[in-house]
Amino acid sequence: MTLDKETVVGIIGAGTMGAGIAQIASTNGHEVYLYDAYAEQLPKAKSGLEKILNRQVEKGRMSQEEVDGILSRIHFVEDITEFGKCGFVIEAIVENIDIKKDAFQRLEGIVSKECILASNTSSLSIASISSALKKPERFLGVHFFNPAPLMKLVEIIPSVATDSDLAQSTKEFISGWGKITVLAKDTPGFIVNRVARPFYSEALRILEEGVADVPTIDWAMKEIGGFRMGPFKLMDLIGHDVNYEVTSSVFKEFYYDPRFKPSFTQKRLVEAGWLGRKSGKGFYNYGEGAKNPDPNTDKELGEEILHRILVMLINEAFDAVFMNIGSAEDVDLAMQNGVNYPKGLLAWAEEIGLENVLGRMNALYEEYQEDRYRPNPLLKRMVREKQ
Ligand SMILES: NC(=O)c1ccc[n+]([C@@H]2O[C@H](COP(=O)([O-])OP(=O)(O)OC[C@H]3O[C@@H](n4cnc5c(N)ncnc54)[C@H](O)[C@@H]3O)[C@@H](O)[C@H]2O)c1
Repeated sequence: MTLDKETVVGIIGAGTMGAGIAQIASTNGHEVYLYDAYAEQLPKAKSGLEKILNRQVEKGRMSQEEVDGILSRIHFVEDITEFGKCGFVIEAIVENIDIKKDAFQRLEGIVSKECILASNTSSLSIASISSALKKPERFLGVHFFNPAPLMKLVEIIPSVATDSDLAQSTKEFISGWGKITVLAKDTPGFIVNRVARPFYSEALRILEEGVADVPTIDWAMKEIGGFRMGPFKLMDLIGHDVNYEVTSSVFKEFYYDPRFKPSFTQKRLVEAGWLGRKSGKGFYNYGEGAKNPDPNTDKELGEEILHRILVMLINEAFDAVFMNIGSAEDVDLAMQNGVNYPKGLLAWAEEIGLENVLGRMNALYEEYQEDRYRPNPLLKRMVREKQ
């Protein structure tokens, strides 16, 4: 099937991601069918989209005609047999392998033989979902980031069974929606959720060791590092239940590689129900008039914190390239556009010097003798070859 402007797009799951992806596809001129197994979800998604789009009109960013056009192209359907018209379907339902497999099996009985099928899963293997299909060659991962209309990145993930041309044609199709697309191997966390792990885990480790407290680590990463948010503020925002689950799943899927080990500190927050902003308490307090401690703004300490977390991130970015999870260019694009890092990690490494990065990794490894701090072979090789 050729993917073009005329392609009718189907979306299963009218939650946060499904509604956002529907908005994107419709804004790009496609007729969109949005389905949810729970009918009450559809009017909710509709009024949510109306609210978001009407705000664009109020702010003068869109005309009323544009907004009316976008809304009129989205068909909120309670009957999935309407998907017979679709040429491209994206699934954005609950993150559960059995429910996803079941949804795709039912879908395959409805759509045409040529229809391309995709999952927005963040953590499940694309190959495992594809095993439910009679034609797994027409299936792949397309991973949007939240909020989908604002975040530029989409990871395109072919499985072992995906048709050899499909990843490229899907990449071009989604790039046509104004997205930055990168190709990622079907491995746990794909690019972004794998490379970003040390942003949280090394910050937690620094806290656990008592090197610095929560506001100080956040201050260092934001004010000295230029990250949009410190790791603890960000974990509070994501929700510790969600963030801990992603870390645990990546750890398990990597056959318990100690690099990805989750933290007890975060587990205890989840157990206590301190889930972050949404529960009013996490690493910070969010109640009315809540007071949080001030950071220690000692520059030397701040630099030490930043560089420890940064070299761990860079080491992970090197590993993603070394293991062919993505190209060097895609790994840098992914981190800048999927999690808004101020610079690509590989470009950042060049800027501070590869010898410097390796020196810091070697020092950490020397100090701890833990596998978590092992320097990546590609980083070592590049330093050696430069010399
Ligand atoms: N929220 C994020 O930050 C984010 C980011 C990237 C990817 N994802 C992935 O996107 C998917 C959806 O996440 P979300 O945050 O939008 O979830 P959500 O809970 O907001 O929405 C899921 C929707 O799917 C519906 N649903 C559940 N089972 C269904 C079924 N069998 N058939 C049809 N509809 C069904 C639910 O009623 C709900 O409306 C998940 O796979 C998630 O891992 C989420």
